[in-house]
Amino acid sequence: MEGCPPGDLLEAAKRVAGNAYAPYSGFRVASAVRAESGRIYAGVNVENSSYGLTVCAERVAVFSAVTNGERAIREVLVYALDSEEPVFPCGACLQVLSEFSPEGDTIVYAYSPRSGRCERASLRELLPRAFRLGHRI
Ligand code: THU
Repeated sequence: MEGCPPGDLLEAAKRVAGNAYAPYSGFRVASAVRAESGRIYAGVNVENSSYGLTVCAERVAVFSAVTNGERAIREVLVYALDSEEPVFPCGACLQVLSEFSPEGDTIVYAYSPRSGRCERASLRELLPRAFRLGHRI
């Protein structure tokens, strides 16, 4: 279907979705990212009783990819279990994604398994003027 995520990304997110740890918000999210190597990495949101320490599913997935040696992210899926609406990544996650998508050409898919609705956008559309350091020491 137009704008819907590829089956292998969906499967990877679905596999871990039940592990989302969201006792405070009740908003469970899974994510799957396809890195430059073609490998897929998944993550879930992990909340904390000190709310601000919560980490979104997308960042968990990206950090897992980087931990495994990846340095570029081609596709991202946000799989929001408890939402009828597909949701796109928060601003913090968009900035983290932009670190591994210098051209902003990463494709981001938002999918709600409840409604079956999906949407798609490029990272450039979602964060058109991402912060970048102008120089490195
Ligand atoms: N959350 C994600 O994991 N990804 C998103 O794209 C949106 C928000 C999480 C953070 C928190 O655990 C819960 O959803 C409610 O904000």
